[in-house]
Amino acid sequence: MRTFDSGKSIFAEVGPVQVARWEQQYQFGTTLPFGAMWYTVPPGVSSVRDCHPEPELSIVVAGTGFVEVDSGITEVGVGSAFLLDSEEAHVIHNRTEDSPLTIFSAYWMPLPAVDLATEQAVVTESAGV
Ligand code: NI
Repeated sequence: MRTFDSGKSIFAEVGPVQVARWEQQYQFGTTLPFGAMWYTVPPGVSSVRDCHPEPELSIVVAGTGFVEVDSGITEVGVGSAFLLDSEEAHVIHNRTEDSPLTIFSAYWMPLPAVDLATEQAVVTESAGV
């Protein structure tokens, strides 16, 4: 068993957000099939718009987040979680004046689609060429 002390993590600036990527600090190598991080959005600040192929599961560990995606903005309180789909653009807002927003996120490359009848990987026709 290993524990991870967020207070001892080394955070790097990504725009206005402080990010501590676990794989850079805890030497997981290839033992985990996902990446993980803590990040902190200061009061009154928003993250830069993010969009990537990895689905991202996030848990608010301090503060209150306002998660903006194309369909709108949703409030996510401490102890609650949100799941972003692959290629779902997102901005994380901290609308408070004095409370940092800290979030734990895990993210991973999606598995290939499988046909449940044949258990074979679904190969999509590529357009052109
Ligand atoms: Ni993201």
